[in-house]
Amino acid sequence: MPSDNTVRQLFVTTALPYANGPFHIGHIMEYIQADIWVRFQRMQGHQVYFVGADDAHGAPIMIAAEKAGQTPQAFVAAIAAGRQRYFDGFHIGFDNWHSTDGPENHELSQEVYRALRKNELITTKTIEQFFDPQKGMFLPDRYVKGECPKCSAKDQYGDACEVCGAVYAPTELKNPYSTLSGAAPVLKHSEHYFFKLSDPRCIEFLQRWTQQGHLQTEVLNKIKEWFVTDDEGRGRLSDWDISRDAPYFGIEIPDAPGKYFYVWLDAPIGYLASLKNYFAKTGHDFDAFMADPATEQYHFIGKDIVYFHTLFWPAMLHFSGKHMEDGTYVPRKTPTNVFVHGFITVKEEKMSKSRGTGISPLRYLDLGLNAEWLRYYIAAKLNAKVEDIDFGPDDFVARVNSDLVGKYVNIASRAAGFLHKHFDGRIANLELGSVGSVYWDSTSVKPYYDIALESFRLKSPVVIRAYEAREFGQVVRLVMKLADEVNEFWDRAKPWELSKRFANPEHPSDPQWLHRVCSVVIEWFRLLTLHLKPILPKVAEEAEVFLRLSHPMSFADVTSVLPEGHRIAEYKHLMQRVDPKLLDALFEPTTIELPPPGGEALAPEVNIDDFAKVDLRIAKIVSCEFVDGADKLLRLTLDVGEAKTRNVFSGIRSAYQPEDLVGKLTVMVANLAPRKMKFGVSEGMVLAASHANEKEHPGLYVLEPWPGAIPGLRVR
Ligand code: MSP
Ligand code: ZN
Repeated sequence: MPSDNTVRQLFVTTALPYANGPFHIGHIMEYIQADIWVRFQRMQGHQVYFVGADDAHGAPIMIAAEKAGQTPQAFVAAIAAGRQRYFDGFHIGFDNWHSTDGPENHELSQEVYRALRKNELITTKTIEQFFDPQKGMFLPDRYVKGECPKCSAKDQYGDACEVCGAVYAPTELKNPYSTLSGAAPVLKHSEHYFFKLSDPRCIEFLQRWTQQGHLQTEVLNKIKEWFVTDDEGRGRLSDWDISRDAPYFGIEIPDAPGKYFYVWLDAPIGYLASLKNYFAKTGHDFDAFMADPATEQYHFIGKDIVYFHTLFWPAMLHFSGKHMEDGTYVPRKTPTNVFVHGFITVKEEKMSKSRGTGISPLRYLDLGLNAEWLRYYIAAKLNAKVEDIDFGPDDFVARVNSDLVGKYVNIASRAAGFLHKHFDGRIANLELGSVGSVYWDSTSVKPYYDIALESFRLKSPVVIRAYEAREFGQVVRLVMKLADEVNEFWDRAKPWELSKRFANPEHPSDPQWLHRVCSVVIEWFRLLTLHLKPILPKVAEEAEVFLRLSHPMSFADVTSVLPEGHRIAEYKHLMQRVDPKLLDALFEPTTIELPPPGGEALAPEVNIDDFAKVDLRIAKIVSCEFVDGADKLLRLTLDVGEAKTRNVFSGIRSAYQPEDLVGKLTVMVANLAPRKMKFGVSEGMVLAASHANEKEHPGLYVLEPWPGAIPGLRVR
């Protein structure tokens, strides 16, 4: 229970990542930031629902799925299946992880749209857009390239020239082509649906909402630029195009056949959908929770998506409320705050997948680097501003080794050693005054004896305020300063010189002197751990076991004290130092042994004669069908240029539908001994690529020759 007895109820989200690739360090940084704040709130006794989801929709994902030969649903599901590893690995405690393609989101998005329409905030306009006649689809700007209208540089994108910097519309490109098919795009008309942000009600609402203290100052300044002022001095916003034409992977717009919501309309609604999905599973009332004025709603996001979250999103929420029978209008809850962070760079470089920079979070874990080193390091660098932070390997090693391990972790092991050796692992009397008064005039350790633990408790509220304000760098500085103090205390007390005598040489009347020094240090360590727990949840959990605490620590435990005679466990190492070589390994993928991308090491070398023993042939898939009673198999009838077709059973059903395969060419092992199976004889094997660990890295890819090959040709 928080000190003022009010339990807040918080709904917290992180941005929903596009489901077209694994997490990068930027995602992990955002999750760590939010997770620390959520853990802090929970330790304050508040009720927090922390949810996320994959952002499944949009043209890029649809196209990536098509390239992978999968349905968008299967493609997205495969990405989603990989998420948990990161959350477990970095101790990110989402209550729920969902998908914007889930049924809740379809329903909620359509509901929001209908309400906006009812409020007369939806309009349609005919727009002209590039269309790929070969693909039969409208082309988002990023899929059109051509020659720069100004400098004629080739292969420039439809918005700006990377060579001369000119900015233009895609329609101005010379010799434009579709990057999907290479075809010359044609201009085509289409009716689009718009959210009327230009409506005076929206402007008025947003100008008010953005000034109500929901936002960071820097964000506010940015937003001001977006309210263009017209000739009469009124704020103005443009209407927002929220529709896309089929084919599109998204949610259908009600009463508009062939039209789908633009991904950015349904994406933030995915926050609500994930919560709704979680509440349904746990028996909570979603509508009541969201209608409760006491519910606080927070979104952690990066600086690149501020526009969507501080203009479109609050407006969508506010104007999709309910009209009550008595004529009143009840808007939906809008965010209490949108917490915007900067970007993480690595070695001062912007991350780029193509240049291979950045840090792979999974590699980090696979190398055995401790997740809490990263949590600590990121926390130490974060503040509440929209500032970029940099991951510097030397800086990382220094902070972890000298601060985290050197100052915090080690203090416990030292004190615990003495306690167990001489005092049965039991804590001395630490009640205020019991240690202080005895040593009032002792030279070296007096101030600590007298005021140390009490002053720690007095500083606690400052740390708590810093957590609440997301000033995690300040939290770390404050706590490390307290760790400095206890180390200083230890060094002055020099217990190692005294362990045999137990007593303070200046005050031999107290044989328990050493006992008290060690007990103060252990209690100090308990308080340090408590204040670092949102950042270091695993270490804290282990420390709770080591300290034999009766319950997981929360901020209410700041005022308590380890009781006299309490017995702690033997010290087990809570955290190692970083070996700087591991950091080198993190950045030099070639010099280290890691599972290769396929998940298995190369098979032993063979010579050309060994290889020639395998007769690989081009085969045409003449027909293909399901096999009753075998949910992994497809039965293929293959033409290998022989008089008779072959019958082959192939374990590729999870990845292909029969109709995907019929008529296609592939490669088969044609001289494999026939194999009798439950369903018939298999006369060969079709080649397909897959990861060694198919469960965690799903995906099966049947080989297909380049155009021109014909059945029966040998592959050599
Ligand atoms: N799908 C949208 C968000 C929809 S929210 C309703 C999206 N996805 S994203 O995968 O591109 O980005 C997810 C989050 O990661 C965003 O908050 C983004 O700002 C953040 N980051 C992406 N790169 C980052 C860094 N280099 N550093 C820190 N955060 C970064 O945008
Ligand atoms: Zn140019």
